[in-house]
Amino acid sequence: MAKIQKRYVCQSCGSVSHRWQGQCADCSAWNTLVEEAAASATPFAAKHNLQGGGRMILMSGLDAEVALPERMTTGIAEFDRALGGGFVEASATLIGGDPGIGKSTLLLQAAARMAMQGKTVAYVSGEEAADQVRLRARRLGLGGAPVQLASATSTRDILTTLSAGTPPDLLIIDSIQTMHSDLIEGAPGTVSQVRASSQELIRFAKERGTALVLVGHVTKDGSIAGPRVLEHMVDTVLAFEGERSHQYRILRAIKNRFGGTDEIGVFSMQTEGLAEVGNPSALFLTQRDEGVTGATVFPALEGTRPVLVEIQALVVRLASGATPRRAVVGWDSGRLAMILAVLEARCGLSFSTAEVYLNIAGGYRVQDPAADLAVAAALISALSERPVPADSVAFGEVALSGEVRPVAHGPLRLKEAGKLGFERAMVPIAMAKDDGPLRLSGFRTLGQFVDHMMGRG
Ligand code: TYD
Ligand code: MG
Repeated sequence: MAKIQKRYVCQSCGSVSHRWQGQCADCSAWNTLVEEAAASATPFAAKHNLQGGGRMILMSGLDAEVALPERMTTGIAEFDRALGGGFVEASATLIGGDPGIGKSTLLLQAAARMAMQGKTVAYVSGEEAADQVRLRARRLGLGGAPVQLASATSTRDILTTLSAGTPPDLLIIDSIQTMHSDLIEGAPGTVSQVRASSQELIRFAKERGTALVLVGHVTKDGSIAGPRVLEHMVDTVLAFEGERSHQYRILRAIKNRFGGTDEIGVFSMQTEGLAEVGNPSALFLTQRDEGVTGATVFPALEGTRPVLVEIQALVVRLASGATPRRAVVGWDSGRLAMILAVLEARCGLSFSTAEVYLNIAGGYRVQDPAADLAVAAALISALSERPVPADSVAFGEVALSGEVRPVAHGPLRLKEAGKLGFERAMVPIAMAKDDGPLRLSGFRTLGQFVDHMMGRG
């Protein structure tokens, strides 16, 4: 008989080792090796002939009848939009975001709306005491909503309680990092605990038809709860983004097994909770005064996700012959010097006796070369004191020759700008082919761009 070997499989990366170790040798995750059933002692021939001995599986065509999943709308249109039409029953949704961004507020509001529509909603907070949540609900004017509220962190307690009665239509777990499964060792928030607790909750949701929402705090490197374990386990991942010091929040689908990932929901954080921003152009356009010079909006990409950022420039003419300062926040100072040099050498603009300040608003750091044209627009606008039209964005790479070069993901940038209410875009000529949602102006050289900005031809 073949000797039965023990094998340990890393639950994070799948690598196999023959002895247990605290840390996976391949992906360096801790406590992820789990003993799995050893290979059974199958006779050699059977092991190498897989064309028999299994069960028949049902195969059918792509055109077979498909039952669309039931959707439960939250009653918050922007939330529903990001979800692709509402929560799907027997599914798991993860909502990630920085602490304090407003995840609990948004979910409490959604929970209350759904409860008032007659759905059964359970809200389990592991972070706040039930009374804290209650007080917040009252402040938001939602104190009367029939939400079932509890403060708990043990998944066993939660599932025991919920299994005793009719399972809720919606179950909110705030947050998954505070949950604890007694099936495995480890403190709440560790990768293995987050994975185990999620697995138990997701299994419950799938078996009992509940729509499960897990709240996840984002770690410093931007991933949710460690090595993205959760993102693989759930059906939908939403990111709740924004600057804590600013009012606006964007809810964005990153993954959606039941819908598209190109939808966003826009909110503004008010003293009475999150308000929907139905017309997101308000987000940038009303905040930006028509007459301000030296500011352009640039559709940047973070990974493959578009983010609109404002680029601001200030040009101060110096009377004396002192060496002018150049200061940059959020962009590369070498790149600014290059754009200034091209504007001087190829377009006849003079910055040599002026101080130049460049700032990327909102604390963003932009590294994308596509920002060149937007930076040039801000500089030209600041120098000429002519505002860049408030409903336009700009992107394109500028070469030392003065050519404006095409950049990656043009359609994605244009689409995002269109969704947020912008109407015009200034782009490299090669990308100005087909008008999508925006009116496009294409430029072959920076010289042409300067003429356009200055209103010359
Ligand atoms: P919260 O929902 O607790 O964030 P998270 O769950 O993502 O950690 O939101 C906390 C912030 O929102 C807090 O700084 C206060 C602010 N806030 C408002 O401005 N208005 C409100 O009505 C509420 C409830 C919170
Ligand atoms: Mg919270």
